[in-house]
Amino acid sequence: MKLKGLLLAGGTGSRLRPLTYTGAKQLIPVANRPILFYAVDAMVQAGIEDIGVITGETGEEIRAKLGTGEAFGCHFTYIPQAAPLGLAHAVKTARSYLGQDPFLMFLGDNLLRSGLKDLVDRFKTGQYAASILLTEVEDPRQFGVAVVDQGRVVQLVEKPAEPPSHWALVGAYCFSPDIHEIVEMLKPSKRGEYEITDAIQTLIDQHKVVDATFVQGWWKDTGRPQDVIEANRLMLEDIPTHILGHIDASSEIVGRVQLGRESQIQHSTIRGPVVIGDNVIIRDSYIGPYTAIGDGVTIEETELENTVILPESHISHVPERIDQSLIGRAAVVQGRSQRPRAVRLVLGDQSRVDL
Ligand code: TTP
Repeated sequence: MKLKGLLLAGGTGSRLRPLTYTGAKQLIPVANRPILFYAVDAMVQAGIEDIGVITGETGEEIRAKLGTGEAFGCHFTYIPQAAPLGLAHAVKTARSYLGQDPFLMFLGDNLLRSGLKDLVDRFKTGQYAASILLTEVEDPRQFGVAVVDQGRVVQLVEKPAEPPSHWALVGAYCFSPDIHEIVEMLKPSKRGEYEITDAIQTLIDQHKVVDATFVQGWWKDTGRPQDVIEANRLMLEDIPTHILGHIDASSEIVGRVQLGRESQIQHSTIRGPVVIGDNVIIRDSYIGPYTAIGDGVTIEETELENTVILPESHISHVPERIDQSLIGRAAVVQGRSQRPRAVRLVLGDQSRVDL
């Protein structure tokens, strides 16, 4: 059995504003690589070669970054979605691309440590109408929640006030073409979206078999800024040391660090795991663990850790340590040593600053 892929790279990304005013949320980097690239890798590693990419307002940027698929060992077909009306609406939009093939749907902002192969292999071996991926969460009220009986999913509820179990749906699903007929007839939910959980519940109501696979290792949905910072931390756990740039004699490097081409570390301490891109200058600074610094960034007389910095930003003379932060592209964060030490801010809409 050969599965097609359906990769969801549309949506609004409202919880990641202001970063998503100027770019797609799936292209925000963790460990200096767009989140979406890890999603594609996971699909390809699960044996998917033909991937339909659902795009929204940021379609052009997504297409420019992903290309034909050759670089990933697959082939992409781009499928614009008129509006982000829900995951089941994305399936409906891809109807003619998917045809009568079974498929793996994956959310382009989700990251899974152990990939998608187990889910896909299990789906291929059984006669299932759908196979979903589940993980145990402490507070399931913000998730789609499944009740499982003897390996089969018997009930699904979207964001329940009183969760019937602790099994939350992760953003990866395998479907047989049975799903199309259901999606065609689906009504929008109270929040106005066509919910994939409602479509799967209909499969169950029709006595079709919905199988469950359980996540091994971590899973991260990168919907909010703190999730991106956490995903970055998880990804950096695995990086090997790789130094291309220049480190001067008065600098100290501890632990696993990656340093890109033409980058310079001057009179600074870098405590890994840290990844630093190309053409970066770090001077008189401390860069602590779980930090990713994009290409063309300059950092002077500043301490920071657990932070994600997108390309071309400039950070200098910040009097306090920057921690747990997400800094967008070409941002300027500048401290002042002279008095008065007032705080001067020029912030984009829906920015957030904690002082
Ligand atoms: P969500 O995180 O549920 O939605 P969103 O991206 O609109 O974000 P927010 O809630 O912060 O506004 O979407 C999960 C993934 O699916 C994400 O990669 C975007 C994608 N998606 C689509 O491609 N089409 C859609 O209609 C929806 C709802 C999401």
